[in-house]
Amino acid sequence: MFLKSVRLLVTYISYVKVELIDAYYYFNYSTLKVRKKNNENLSAQIIAHVHSIERAFSLKNTRDTFGIELVDSLNKLISQIDDESKYEYELKIFNSAIKEYNNYHNIHNNYDSRISPYKDYKHKKSCLKSLYKDIVRGRHSVRDFSNKSISDLSVLKSIAMAKNTAPSVCNRQGWEVVLVKNKEKIENVLNLQSGNSGIENIQNIIVVSSDLTSFFGLNERNQPYIDGGIFLMSLLNSLHYNNIASCTLNWTVDRKQDSKLKKLLNIKNSKVVIALVALGSYDEDAIKIASSYRKPLKSILKIVE
Ligand SMILES: Cc1cc2nc3c(=O)[nH]c(=O)nc-3n(C[C@H](O)[C@H](O)[C@H](O)COP(=O)(O)O)c2cc1C
Repeated sequence: MFLKSVRLLVTYISYVKVELIDAYYYFNYSTLKVRKKNNENLSAQIIAHVHSIERAFSLKNTRDTFGIELVDSLNKLISQIDDESKYEYELKIFNSAIKEYNNYHNIHNNYDSRISPYKDYKHKKSCLKSLYKDIVRGRHSVRDFSNKSISDLSVLKSIAMAKNTAPSVCNRQGWEVVLVKNKEKIENVLNLQSGNSGIENIQNIIVVSSDLTSFFGLNERNQPYIDGGIFLMSLLNSLHYNNIASCTLNWTVDRKQDSKLKKLLNIKNSKVVIALVALGSYDEDAIKIASSYRKPLKSILKIVE
């Protein structure tokens, strides 16, 4: 009994130690403590600001007054660029967003861009013969759902397809999906989440979570997020394949907010919520989607020969 308690205490202390080391790295490299000297977070901050502008253009009803403070702080970020050659991608998407923003607000345009922060999207129905390439490249976050009802069967098929295809550590499949169909509950869930403003006609919400009971030892402490994230991606593609439009909604909240969601949906404390997914139907007409331009390959790839 005594030995067992000592072992437990040692494990607990080891856990606190590794968490403190994690916290050290997060504190040093995330925006919690921007390392001014290198300004390494500038790119991520610019991209997130630009995305908020392109996101606004992808809504059914873009607010007339959107973006005033956002553009102000985006300009401040851009003014911190000391070497433009290192920020070609960021400047490209910035110019496109500001050009469109100025057009929208009838502001004289000094900006020129050959790309646009939004694209027209017309859903091409997927079927058995659809090519993999068309499914994965045709999936986009949709924030302009139509009011046509989605098929319950297609939602269930998508969840089944995701669980049958997503890989996980030792095939442990430590994930859970909560499908929220009740209108009032959907409203309550959306009120707890911060990234759904302007999205209408959400018919279902899926809460993707990982179950901590599936993970072993100290070194798997981040595995719930990895397996849960892989499942999420698999689900998004499966939904698209089954002609269900979706938009992932972040669940980056504090414990208090997390507890409110868990209480509302009766989710156990052993679950780690990875993200929410808003489901709706594709419009038959063309809609606008955020362009979400990706970085060039060379900026994310390092080859070791
Ligand atoms: C974990 C995660 C959280 C997200 N949260 C939100 C959100 O709260 N609101 C939103 O409108 N979009 C959200 N998105 C959608 C992203 O903005 C979108 O995936 C990204 O711009 C790439 O575009 P795509 O999904 O069309 O390829 C989220 C995406 C992920 C993966």
